[in-house]
Amino acid sequence: MPVQRTLSIVKPDAVEKNVIGDIIRRFEENSLSIIGAKMVHLSAAEAGRFYAVHAQRPFYKDLCAFMSSGPVLAMALEGKNAVTLNRQLMGATNPKEADAGTIRADHAASIDANAVHGSDSEENAAIEIGFFFPDLELHSKA
Ligand code: CMP
Repeated sequence: MPVQRTLSIVKPDAVEKNVIGDIIRRFEENSLSIIGAKMVHLSAAEAGRFYAVHAQRPFYKDLCAFMSSGPVLAMALEGKNAVTLNRQLMGATNPKEADAGTIRADHAASIDANAVHGSDSEENAAIEIGFFFPDLELHSKA
């Protein structure tokens, strides 16, 4: 399995619930290393740039408002099969459909307030990591 990088965001709802530590524990216990981390409070415009791929979707405005409603923790994760592994740990986008024991099943309240974001491909991971982190702020173990 290839060593990959992926972007994780702990969203404003999960930051507010004080479950950052629980989410990081799940990553580390599953051999994902945090190679970059920062807490930021995005503006609605910045959230809009991050989620530009969804600009035509009906939920885009609410998504940008929610993602700029409080601070988020952005993390670059590294490990074998990191993109898929992170998505398995997160569970389905809609927490009602998320498997038991996943982050979203345990911590998400709705499809909007769904606790975490994770990149959906290695290509998008590189773009999303670059949104938050210059190379100098990434500390690879690979
Ligand atoms: P995320 O993985 O951050 O990617 C885009 C976000 O849009 C998604 O999680 C959800 O929180 C939010 N969203 C709201 N409605 C929908 C929907 N119908 N389909 C997909 N994502 C949605």
